[in-house]
Amino acid sequence: MTSTPPVCSYEGSDYQNSFWEKGGRAYEDACEALALKKLLPLRGAHLLELGAGAGRNTPRYTGYEKITLLDYSRSQLEQAHARLGDNPNLRFIAADVYRLPFVEGAFDGATMIRTLHHMADAPAALAQVRRVLAEDSTFILEYANKRNLKSILRYLLGKQKWSPYTAEPVEYLELNFDFHPAAIRTWMKDAGFRIERTITVSHFRLAFLKRTIPTGLLAGLDSLAGLTGGLWQLSPSVFLRATSLNGTSTALPEKAKAASGYACPACREPLEDTPPLIRCPKCERTYPVTDGIYDFRLDA
Ligand SMILES: C[S@@+](CC[C@H](N)C(=O)[O-])C[C@H]1O[C@@H](n2cnc3c(N)ncnc32)[C@H](O)[C@@H]1O
Repeated sequence: MTSTPPVCSYEGSDYQNSFWEKGGRAYEDACEALALKKLLPLRGAHLLELGAGAGRNTPRYTGYEKITLLDYSRSQLEQAHARLGDNPNLRFIAADVYRLPFVEGAFDGATMIRTLHHMADAPAALAQVRRVLAEDSTFILEYANKRNLKSILRYLLGKQKWSPYTAEPVEYLELNFDFHPAAIRTWMKDAGFRIERTITVSHFRLAFLKRTIPTGLLAGLDSLAGLTGGLWQLSPSVFLRATSLNGTSTALPEKAKAASGYACPACREPLEDTPPLIRCPKCERTYPVTDGIYDFRLDA
């Protein structure tokens, strides 16, 4: 088993409440809702929500029959479970994006919103997403853009040392990264995705605008500005819709098809869904299921 990068911990965090509900982020939330509306397919069978947190976006994925919420933090999933309630079409999985506990091609859709920015090895994370998607699936990715207007101005005025123009990620806080759009495009291609559409988001993330202009109007203006996303990206947040191409994940093996879709995150052996304990028949690791949350973390 190879080692994977460290995880940015949200265990015990009240992120949903402090950042979104009490943090004055109604504008950003409204912008993201509009972007998702533009990018989501009308219908789908099974969506994987990577870094789902407390499930802020889950109710927006209305076209999918089933949704699997995946997050490394069990306490975030507990909040999501409490907010979304018991629903046989929702699954809650504690696992690491770098070691997804699913067989090849298990999903026909995936989203990753405000999560890639915690990935020290973004290409490895994207390769995992591609692995668990069937060919021709939709992947919606949000990333934090290092080449945004504010960082360009700060750089030109000498208030910021790092260049917004270079391809490498900038780690502005421990395990918090902004990415260059060109680097993201290269990594997506290398992972086996074709980008279909790009929308720039949160252009007007300025306190005085958020205070003076009604949220709905400002988000509507943002949505209009986002239409040029395929041409240039100067906003702090960028949304992409991509399609998974053939070649990376093979057709679903019969053995895996018959099973639950779960695979051992350590050795990739397909697993039977046997709560309250799942045992890998190959490496004999065990994974508990408690209060509706499957725990596939290897070192929690
Ligand atoms: C900023 S929050 C975003 C939550 C949600 N997507 C939203 O937009 O409201 C990032 C989430 O990613 C999760 N996360 C970070 N690194 C992860 C990893 N390696 N594997 C799984 N989840 C991870 C965190 O636990 C956290 O819940």
